[in-house]
Amino acid sequence: MQPKSQKYRCLASLSRFAIVAIKLCPSFLGFVYCHEYQADVCGVGSHFYKGIHHVIALRLFARDAIFRTGLLIIVLVGNPCMVRSTRADDVGSLKLAVAGRFKIGVGTNRDLVDHPQDRALLLRHFDIVTPENCMKPQVVQPFEGDFRFDLGDAFVKFAEEHGLKVVGHCLVWADSGKTPSWWMTENGQPTSKETLFRRMKTHIQTVAGRYGDRISEWDVVNEALSDGSDGYLRDTLWARVAGEDFIVRAFEYTREVAPNALLVYNDYNVDTDGKRDSLIRLVQSLKQKNTPIDAVGLQGHYELDAIAYEGLGSMLEAMRQLQVKVIISELDIDVIPRSRWWADNNRHRDELKSSNPYKDGCPPEILQRQAEQYAKLFELFCRYDDVVERVSFWNLHDGQSWLNYFPWDRVNHPLLFDRNRMPKPAYHAVIRTVRQSILKASHLEELPSNAN
Ligand code: XIL
Repeated sequence: MQPKSQKYRCLASLSRFAIVAIKLCPSFLGFVYCHEYQADVCGVGSHFYKGIHHVIALRLFARDAIFRTGLLIIVLVGNPCMVRSTRADDVGSLKLAVAGRFKIGVGTNRDLVDHPQDRALLLRHFDIVTPENCMKPQVVQPFEGDFRFDLGDAFVKFAEEHGLKVVGHCLVWADSGKTPSWWMTENGQPTSKETLFRRMKTHIQTVAGRYGDRISEWDVVNEALSDGSDGYLRDTLWARVAGEDFIVRAFEYTREVAPNALLVYNDYNVDTDGKRDSLIRLVQSLKQKNTPIDAVGLQGHYELDAIAYEGLGSMLEAMRQLQVKVIISELDIDVIPRSRWWADNNRHRDELKSSNPYKDGCPPEILQRQAEQYAKLFELFCRYDDVVERVSFWNLHDGQSWLNYFPWDRVNHPLLFDRNRMPKPAYHAVIRTVRQSILKASHLEELPSNAN
């Protein structure tokens, strides 16, 4: 696959060309002046006038010299300014810094329609948005046949009006608690496979069909894999009734109404050992069955000091081999470890509920560690930019993060921007990492192929 940094280098060459063109400008103008002057003098044909033509020539050349000097000053002063301001723009925008290597997105909600400051932050840094909640099955179809599109429609309209692409999230959420309860029963009994598929087809085709090409990527199935080592698929009615088939069907139904969209299987913790193997197995199996899957979404809800870089690396490698794109779909780094919430039969929950260590602000050393860990992640994403299609954060800034209330209420600091919407050390670290990797890639491409 072609490295995306080539696009970036092409832009750089264009701007270099523009600078050279400005520098040549004075010579060209000088030539035009001389030409005019000769035409003037030769056309007159009188000795008297020919006698004074040296004076005119001197005046014209003096004008030209002043003009050249002026342009030279503009070039000398303007050139470094231009370079400086390009750099300032890069530092000021995540999407500019990433320069097309992958899309940069964010999961957010309709609130931003009413919050101009959030809107400014969003438009400056991101090029694709995921609705945080308003397109989920429970919101869109809380009762059978009762479709509610007001929020989804407003979200898509807002995105279109602001030139943002949209990820539809999500058509099937294969966790019993996340599927509306009516979907799971039929005449007081668990839903049969036929009814399950019929309901799924109606839901998918009504929702995805409504938006057509206005939505460029769909999370078709969310969280169908089992956690840890206890099996392959999550133990839900979906899997009990239909095994893997419901995933295959979900992708097929979506493809029928969204022929151009990128279709994604999305899940969490799939860079950890047990679940990574399950995801690889799922993708292999879907591909064998010619299922129209284009990408896997790694949610990327990380915890500080517990990121499985190696697992992530081998996942990226595996997907490269399988020729499936990877999306980091919901990135954040929680600074208040949360895994104990589920450990030891939930017995730490009371203690955790009263834990709110950074309610008055996050200590600088924690922010620094978070910055280093974000940088390491982006180093990896850049290294696999032929595979990584998009990196989306989950929420715009710390004040908006779902980790302020999941799984318990606390003041959290998981994102690149703080509560005042100001860039954190993590933001600067990400920008630095991305730029260094672009530079490194363009140097490597410039080396002759036989260089060692
Ligand atoms: C979360 C939202 O951010 C919360 O506001 C909501 O209360 C619960 O869902 N994986 C997903 C997302 O796929 O849809 C979840 O979003 C976070 C975990």
